[in-house]
Amino acid sequence: MRTVIEPFRVKTVEPIKFTTASERQAILSRAGYNLFSVNAEDVIVDLLTDSGTSALSHEQWAAMMHADESYAGCKSFFRLRETVEKIFGFPEVIPVHQGRAAERLLFGQLVMSGDVIVSNTHFDTTRANIEALGATALDLPSREFLQSASMYPFKGDIDLESVADFLSRKDRPRMPFAMITITNNAAGGQPASLENLREYVRLLRAHDIPLFIDAARFAENAYLIKLRSPEYANQSIEQIVKSIFELAEGCLMSAKKDGLSNIGGFLALRDKQLASRLKEQLILTEGFPTYGGLAGRDLESIHVGLNEVLDESYLRYRAVSAEYLARGLLSHGIPISTPPGMHAIYVDAGRFLPHIPWHEFPGQVLVCELYLEAGVRACEIGSVMFGKTDPSTGKALPAKSELVRLALPRRAYSQSHYDYVIEALANVFDRKASLAGLKMVEAPCRLRHFTARFEPVATRANLSASC
Ligand code: F0G
Repeated sequence: MRTVIEPFRVKTVEPIKFTTASERQAILSRAGYNLFSVNAEDVIVDLLTDSGTSALSHEQWAAMMHADESYAGCKSFFRLRETVEKIFGFPEVIPVHQGRAAERLLFGQLVMSGDVIVSNTHFDTTRANIEALGATALDLPSREFLQSASMYPFKGDIDLESVADFLSRKDRPRMPFAMITITNNAAGGQPASLENLREYVRLLRAHDIPLFIDAARFAENAYLIKLRSPEYANQSIEQIVKSIFELAEGCLMSAKKDGLSNIGGFLALRDKQLASRLKEQLILTEGFPTYGGLAGRDLESIHVGLNEVLDESYLRYRAVSAEYLARGLLSHGIPISTPPGMHAIYVDAGRFLPHIPWHEFPGQVLVCELYLEAGVRACEIGSVMFGKTDPSTGKALPAKSELVRLALPRRAYSQSHYDYVIEALANVFDRKASLAGLKMVEAPCRLRHFTARFEPVATRANLSASC
C-alpha cells in the first residue's frame, strides 16, 4: 500500500469549540493582535508549538498509573535512566522539569563571562541562558539555510568552514564546550547530517572542546538522515541515534518534543564528576536527583515516550503528514521553506506579503489573518521575535527572515485538520493584496513576542515601550 495512515486509532477525544469570524475579530483585538494572549479554548486548530502538546499513548497512561512517587530512589527514575542509557549511551541521567532547566544547570557549571558557545543555531532559551552568564551564543548555520527555496537536504548542518576559522583564531575567547541543535528548530526544523556532525567533532577534538547536543527532536533528525542519506537507508533509527550520540559528551533534552510527553526533560552525560556537581545544584533549584522537579508519572511518560518515538511507522507517518501539509500549501503557490522538516512547516511571510515592510511585521499580520480566517493559531518567527535595536544608534533592525511557523503537535491532529489549515491559508493568500501592516504599540524589553501588543497601522498609535 502506498497510502500511509496514522499508526494508531483514537480512544479519547477532546472536543473543539468553534468560533465565528466576528467573535474572532473581537478576541484578537482584545488580545492586542498577539496570539499568545488568546485563550486556547478560542482556538480551533492550535499550531503554536509542538512542545508539550503530544497526545499520550495508552501505554504512557498505563505506565503513569504504576508510577512510583517516592521522594528518593523511585522505581520510575531507574526505568527512565535505563531507557536513556540504552538509547543515547550516557550513563549519567539528571531529570529536570523541561529543556531550559537543563540549559541553566549545565551552563551554570561550565560557562563563564566572556566565553563563546558555538552552535548551528541556539534555540532562544539556550541563547538567553548563555547570555545571562555574560557569555556569547554564536550561531554558525549552514549557508544553504538562508535560501528558503533551496532543496539542500541538511540545512540544519553547522557551517564547518566558519567553525574551523573561529577555532583557529588567535584571539578566540574560551569555549568550554560546543553545541548543535538537532533538528535545527530555528532553521526550519532541518536536520544535521552525520557527516557534518563527525567533521564538527573532529575539528572540536583538535582543540579539546567537548560537544553537547540539544536533542529535543533527535528521533526526527535520525529519521531524516535515514530518509535523505542513501548510505543510512538500511540502518535502524536506534543505530543512527547511537552513531549521533557517541560523538558527544552529553545532551540536553526537552522531553516535551521527541519525549512525546507534556512536561519534562533531562541532562545526560558521561562525566561522573561533572554529574555529581550538577546534581548538587539540581537539589537547590529542581529537586532531588531521582525526580528533578517532576512527578514519578512524568518520568514514566518520558520513559515510554522515548521508546515509542523510535518506532519507524510513527516517524514515517509524521514525516508524511508534514509533507502533505507542505504539498497542499505549495499547490496554492504559498511560499514555504523547503524541503519540509517534520515538526513544523515554515511559511515565508516576507514572500507571502511582499508589500508589507519588515517594520510592519508581515509574519504577525499573517498569523493574525490566519486566526481571523479560520481560528488557526501559528507563531511568528520574524522581526517581532528576533528584531533588535542597534545599541549604538538606537535604530530598529530586522530579523534575518520573516517566517510563520505552523508547528505540528505529535499524534494530535489528522489529515482533515491539515486540509482545513491549507484552505485557510489559501483563502488568506487570495486576498493578500488587501492586507495592511501592524504597528507595535507596547513592547517589553525581553522576549517581546510573548507579550507585545499591536494595532493595525491605519490607527498609527505611538510606541510606548516599557523600557
Ligand atoms: N531546545 C530546542 C531546540 C527547543 O525547540 C526548545 C523549546 C528548547 C530547547 C527548550 O525546551 O521548552 O522544554 O524548556 N522549544 C519550544 C518551541 C518552546 O515551541 O519550539 P523547553
